[in-house]
Amino acid sequence: MIIFAPLIPLLAIAIAAPVADDEKCRPTQTTYTTKYDNLPFVEPGPNPIPSPYNGLNYKTFQVDQYDGFIPPTSGNQWTMAFGGSGNISVPDSPPKQIFELDSFSYACVSGVPQPECAISMWGWKESGRLIKRVIKFPRLDPGHPIEDFKMNATKFGGEWRDLKSVGFSIARADNGGDMFGGLALDDVKYTVTQRKC
Ligand SMILES: *[C@@H]1O[C@H](CO)[C@@H](O)[C@H](O)[C@H]1NC(C)=O
Ligand SMILES: *[C@@H]1O[C@H](CO)[C@@H](O)[C@H](O)[C@H]1NC(C)=O
Repeated sequence: MIIFAPLIPLLAIAIAAPVADDEKCRPTQTTYTTKYDNLPFVEPGPNPIPSPYNGLNYKTFQVDQYDGFIPPTSGNQWTMAFGGSGNISVPDSPPKQIFELDSFSYACVSGVPQPECAISMWGWKESGRLIKRVIKFPRLDPGHPIEDFKMNATKFGGEWRDLKSVGFSIARADNGGDMFGGLALDDVKYTVTQRKC
């Protein structure tokens, strides 16, 4: 027993040093569920999303308010890319930021009737790799009470991580033609990671 006692302080030092380094390098992670309800909205617009907003920059997306057609999932505002295409990205500064997309609510908004809508999504990864996914929003036919129209929701798998930017573009699902409408998103959930080393 007694002969091993001097080893204990040495062991403690050997373990303590790397732990201190890890501490300094530990990335900070922030998870957001972005609802756009606290952003100013004036008419007539435009009402661009301020950049950065909840850790991300928006290109072409605007703040938009419920107008009696499809209700936002939460509150009375969502974000809308009026032409159907736009980007959401981590800012370049500070550097070493990436994000992981978890889920969102979405709708293609062009009026009734509207054809089935294909939303193409591209994810640009930090590695330079590009991933792609297409999600659909159903066709809307006349003869429905307005309450039948609602946003749809989707989740993203583990591939949608280490992202620098996510891009969106909408088209008719049947023939690739123009939807003549916008893409609305709400309750966008993601985690921004800021690496320190
Ligand atoms: C979205 O980002 C990609 C890659 O940076 C770019 O090629 C594309 O033009 C952008 N689209 C829009 C609508 O900003
Ligand atoms: C998706 O949207 C359509 C059209 O608004 C709606 O009828 C349907 O109930 C929605 N689906 C879900 C699962 O919310």
